[in-house]
Amino acid sequence: MESLLAEIARQGHSLIRPERTIVYSNFDDRLRPAVDVPSSSKVSDEVPEGVALCVRYLKPCVVDRSLCVPIVTTQNRVLGAIEFLRDGSSPDFSTQDIQLAECVGQVASSAVDRARLFFRIEEWKRSMETLLSFNATVNQRLEPEAMLHELVTNVTGFLDADGGASGLALRSDSEVVFQCEGFYFADRWHAFHRRWKSGEGLPGVVLRTEFPCLVEDYRTDSRADRDLVSRFDLGSTVCVPIKNAREQVLGFFQWHRRRGRPEFSWQDAAFLESLGNTAAVAIDNSRLFKSLELKNAQIKTLSLHHVQRLEEERKHIARELHDETGQVLIGLKLRLKILSGLLTGDQQDAKDELHELGSQLSGATAKLKDLAKRLRPPTLDELGFESAIRQLVSEIRRHTKLQIDVEFHSWPELPSSSETALFRIVQECLTNVVKHAQATRVEISLVTQGHRQVLRVADDGIGFDFDALSGGLGLIGMRERVRMLDGLIDVQSQLGQGTVIAVTLKTARAE
Ligand SMILES: Nc1ncnc2c1ncn2[C@@H]1O[C@H](COP(=O)(O)OP(=O)(O)OP(=O)(O)O)[C@@H](O)[C@H]1O
Ligand SMILES: [Mg+2]
Repeated sequence: MESLLAEIARQGHSLIRPERTIVYSNFDDRLRPAVDVPSSSKVSDEVPEGVALCVRYLKPCVVDRSLCVPIVTTQNRVLGAIEFLRDGSSPDFSTQDIQLAECVGQVASSAVDRARLFFRIEEWKRSMETLLSFNATVNQRLEPEAMLHELVTNVTGFLDADGGASGLALRSDSEVVFQCEGFYFADRWHAFHRRWKSGEGLPGVVLRTEFPCLVEDYRTDSRADRDLVSRFDLGSTVCVPIKNAREQVLGFFQWHRRRGRPEFSWQDAAFLESLGNTAAVAIDNSRLFKSLELKNAQIKTLSLHHVQRLEEERKHIARELHDETGQVLIGLKLRLKILSGLLTGDQQDAKDELHELGSQLSGATAKLKDLAKRLRPPTLDELGFESAIRQLVSEIRRHTKLQIDVEFHSWPELPSSSETALFRIVQECLTNVVKHAQATRVEISLVTQGHRQVLRVADDGIGFDFDALSGGLGLIGMRERVRMLDGLIDVQSQLGQGTVIAVTLKTARAE
């Protein structure tokens, strides 16, 4: 801007040929001399009458030996003025001089207006870039400490500050303190371990008031940290709270400029406080996310434990049914046989009755064995996973007319928790096909794809509508089991189009 005003002064000076040309610029609604041609003479800060008149009426004014023209935006906002001065020996300004000066004023107006606009756009661009990088940092899901460090570095650049620090609030039953681990200055982080109670130092004041704090000269402020003052050249300082939506102070930000550099304004403080609010949302989210992850892990462990207990219990009941109750039934059957042998020929009715009892006992024993098998297929322990699946399939084939194809491809030995889960899933899928699908064919494939194991069970049955599902536990149980193994389950079904259930597990070495 300076060089543009100097160029305007030079050009106007050579066109109008006065003794002196002064360009005034509007700073905070006050006109101040910015450029003077020739520059040797001393210019007073007073605004001459001609200049005051020309910016009031927005047209050229001649007062004594001074010709003034305003520099204005297209919306008539005053950006400055040009004053051409002649001494007593020179001729008066002619009409042509005034017209020429008006032209210079107009050209200067559009040039300054454009330059200001360009400057504002550059500033906006910088702000946008910083806000974007601020947002990117906030969205990175970093640990709160790491996020605050990045924000301090980012905003230092954007604020045109020289350094800063940040800290998080540590809460105990009795008090809240701010803790800080580093101080950023001259493009690098320095060790700076501090704790402030409420009211101690600038962060402590912010902790107590929950309000931003501005300091003109950090060195002379009674709340300044003496160590920082001795190590760094710190002038203007701003400290703001990091406050969440529940008005809880989670931490603070502090920025510094060196002595002699422009001071931070309350506008800066308000802007930084709103950045603090955004950071607070990210801190809250990160903490929530962490506690959610922890809870999830706890639930998973608990469910896994529960499923393991369930499997153990099933094993136990199956053994009991087989070894205890089964043996009792077999014993009963033998004694019935003995009893039947003791009966004489004229006790045919009683013999028939005993025979009938014997058949019912055989039926009950078979059912019991079947139940025990369902509870805990012995083959999974004894023969391994593939044989257990194949045996399960041949059982179903025996009882139904289903055509079932099974394919194993590069299937490794998996941890027993995975094998049990997959076995139960195949079992539930097949039970569902028999119960609901009215299918004629089922394809089961267990295939290794890269580092993943994929189980797929597809039938050509009537399919089902997800929205119309009610009450069953089978599909829910499958999802639960897969979730516990960190796997994926995909259930595809449409009325009349059959059903495909695919489970994908990441390879984990067998225990
Ligand atoms: N292969 C399939 N073909 C057609 N419908 C199916 C199939 N699998 C599941 N369904 C439908 O989805 C519903 C839910 O299945 P899910 O296994 O969750 O429960 P269920 O079999 O009804 O009862 P549970 O498994 O608790 O004994 C079933 O009632 C059925 O309507
Ligand atoms: Mg079911």
